[in-house]
Amino acid sequence: MTMRAPLLIDTDPGVDDALAILMAHQHAEVKGLAIAAGNVGLRHTVNNALKLVDVMGHETPVFPGCATPLVLDAADAAFVHGADGFGDTGYSRSTRAAANEHAALAISRLSREFAGQLTVVALGPLTNLALALRLDPELPRRVARLVIMGGAVNGRGNTHLVPAEFNIGFDPEAAHVVFSNWPTFDLVDWEATMHHGLAYDDLEQWLAADDERARFYASVSRRTRSWARQHGRQRMLSADALAMAVALDPSIIVESAERHVGIELAGGLTRGATVVDWEQRMARPANARIVLGVEQGKFENLIRDALGAA
Ligand code: RIB
Ligand code: CA
Repeated sequence: MTMRAPLLIDTDPGVDDALAILMAHQHAEVKGLAIAAGNVGLRHTVNNALKLVDVMGHETPVFPGCATPLVLDAADAAFVHGADGFGDTGYSRSTRAAANEHAALAISRLSREFAGQLTVVALGPLTNLALALRLDPELPRRVARLVIMGGAVNGRGNTHLVPAEFNIGFDPEAAHVVFSNWPTFDLVDWEATMHHGLAYDDLEQWLAADDERARFYASVSRRTRSWARQHGRQRMLSADALAMAVALDPSIIVESAERHVGIELAGGLTRGATVVDWEQRMARPANARIVLGVEQGKFENLIRDALGAA
């Protein structure tokens, strides 16, 4: 059973972010898109979010956030998502304007407006959420649930610093602020993403649906799908879609573990790693429900519905 509770998405669209955002608008009440830099620069991630709101025919406000990580600059992921973050298709830009409110302030405000009901889904670097926490330390008390796409709980990351996953590795200081100040959150990591890939044939069948969302997603994801095939990925990995599925319908979780997860900030080889206290030796309370497995069929149904391919 999916929910229609209020949802706030912090995101760096980004091809897999786009699928997650389509899913959220199909199955929940999205109260805003808080935009981060990450996959590509903030100008592109904001433009991509505005375009996606047009394609979906919604009026979801888009709140620009931080253009840089909190402390050190980091490399983007344009090599995966395209220079513009949406497959370099040259889509016609939206005429819609972004909101005149910073993402960090919007996160705090919406947590008050929907106190006790709001689910926050973080699909990009945690810069905006970290700033919101510093401005508003009571934020976690008002948020019903936080779901984070990030990390690699056994060190199998996807960046040049082997144990680091992109969202955490792009802004480790922000992740440290969130992981050490948010009492409990759901964590959907890169390793779970690798266990829950999508068959290319299935995805391409869904993208053939007679629906504007499917047509648009087929276009913006084309480059990333061919990049994945060329780099030997047996299935299409969509980290943000998996995290969104967990946010929309927690009943799809079939295996999880509650552990303390910390962020490495200084390691020469390990900066940005998510360090899990698997043996519970640190005597610190668990802050994360680590999602280890979901029901693949239910996950894929949420995607198909969002593309009009059900
Ligand atoms: O590591 C995968 C994550 O990094 C996804 O959120 C993707 O969009 C990128 O932001
Ligand atoms: Ca993302």
